Amino acid sequence: MAKDKTIYTCNDCGGTSPKWLGKCPHCNAWNTLVESIAESNAPVKNRYSSQFQSLAKASEVTTLSDIDATDMARTPTGHEELDRVLGGGIVEGGVVLIGGDPGIGKSTLLLQALDSLQRAGQRTLYVTGEESGAQIALRSRRLGLDGSQVQVLAEIQLEKILATLDHIRPTIAVIDSIQTVYSDQLTSAPGSVAQVRECAAHLTRAAKASGVCIVLVGHVTKEGALAGPRVLEHMVDTVLYFEGDTHSSFRLVRAIKNRFGAVNEIGVFAMTEKGLKGVSNPSAIFLSQHSEPVPGSCVMVTLEGTRPLLVEIQALVDSGGPSPRRLSVGLDRDRLAMLLAVLHRHAGVACMDQDVFVNAVGGVRISEPAADLAVMLAIASSLRGKALPKGFIAFGEVGLAGEVRPAPRGQERLKEAAKLGFSVAIVPKANAPKKNDKSFDGLTIHAVERIEEALNLVRSLG
Ligand code: TYD
Ligand code: MG
Repeated sequence: MAKDKTIYTCNDCGGTSPKWLGKCPHCNAWNTLVESIAESNAPVKNRYSSQFQSLAKASEVTTLSDIDATDMARTPTGHEELDRVLGGGIVEGGVVLIGGDPGIGKSTLLLQALDSLQRAGQRTLYVTGEESGAQIALRSRRLGLDGSQVQVLAEIQLEKILATLDHIRPTIAVIDSIQTVYSDQLTSAPGSVAQVRECAAHLTRAAKASGVCIVLVGHVTKEGALAGPRVLEHMVDTVLYFEGDTHSSFRLVRAIKNRFGAVNEIGVFAMTEKGLKGVSNPSAIFLSQHSEPVPGSCVMVTLEGTRPLLVEIQALVDSGGPSPRRLSVGLDRDRLAMLLAVLHRHAGVACMDQDVFVNAVGGVRISEPAADLAVMLAIASSLRGKALPKGFIAFGEVGLAGEVRPAPRGQERLKEAAKLGFSVAIVPKANAPKKNDKSFDGLTIHAVERIEEALNLVRSLG
């Protein structure tokens, strides 16, 4: 067998270099070269060829119309909220990446899912590189999974894991975590970008060739995930991220990429004594309980995925030093800077010399622009020191010209707010219901077209 040659590939442009350099010779980016393996050009069989051959045999060229377009067979995991984000269940040969902060519940959820699948007659394998078999067993007892038949392999060497997968042929295998797996072919340390990427690529190929569903667990590091799972997102079929505050009991699992289902679908779980339990009606769990309205708090209805979720946005505006700070938790910081500029320019609300902090309660991350209006109203409310009315909600995107743009599926959002007993709403004009629509009984809806209109309205409401 020809010896594989180590080369260095640029993370940005994909260019290669035979030796490590600080600066990529192709795109001139700094610190982007990472170790990888060059495929041998020799006609002898290299590491990849057998897998490629099996792939080639499996796929013939056909026209689209001739392909039997039945949906992929899915095996439900038995956990409704997890199945929701997976798009119905696990898929043969599918590769799922689950990312999230350490301690958020990745191992717990996957162990629970494997156990249900095993009890449903599937063959399962849990490959652990972080914990010993005894620790996994202890956790399974704690979760009440007595007599679990899930097979456990404590191994971190890629070649051995691949051989075991080939030997056992499970329906589903969990690799916990991909950062601990290393290959002998590379000299860089386990957990480095090169190792993580190379090992994930091999496991993905193995999944496609053998039909095993592989779940890769990845840690996201707070520092921007250098060797984290971000580099793997394009390789896998489904990317799920855990969100939530480790101090609260609620966890969100969000699908940010799914070749087998809808993206942005969310599953909601509560961490209990007996592991993660699905929350089937989650709409009000991210509201903090104030007995009376407080300044700087505005509730919005977010609709990422198929279910509306009410989330409280909090803002604190306080006099800052010479360079005031803008901090956001769960919301985009650049967007916050933009919204502050719009507030100043179009509504005359100036926070130039103030520190501004905004927070989405409960550790939820909100990426949709429909949060804009609630963020701006919360900021203005904090600055004035005056609370928004009781039972108040708002949503809508705000543009650079100060216009309030509609949010997708506004009626559904309003229905949810009405159902939960909210009484006043400020929404974009296009989202306001028709006069004769009675489904919002008890909810007074004010439609606005501009941000200054919304702020004046809030003032007149008290
Ligand atoms: P874990 O699944 O180990 O996190 P990850 O794999 O994402 O690093 O979750 C660990 C946390 O969950 C830990 O802080 C304890 C808590 N936990 C419970 O509250 N109840 C339980 O039944 C279990 C197993 C864990
Ligand atoms: Mg873990």
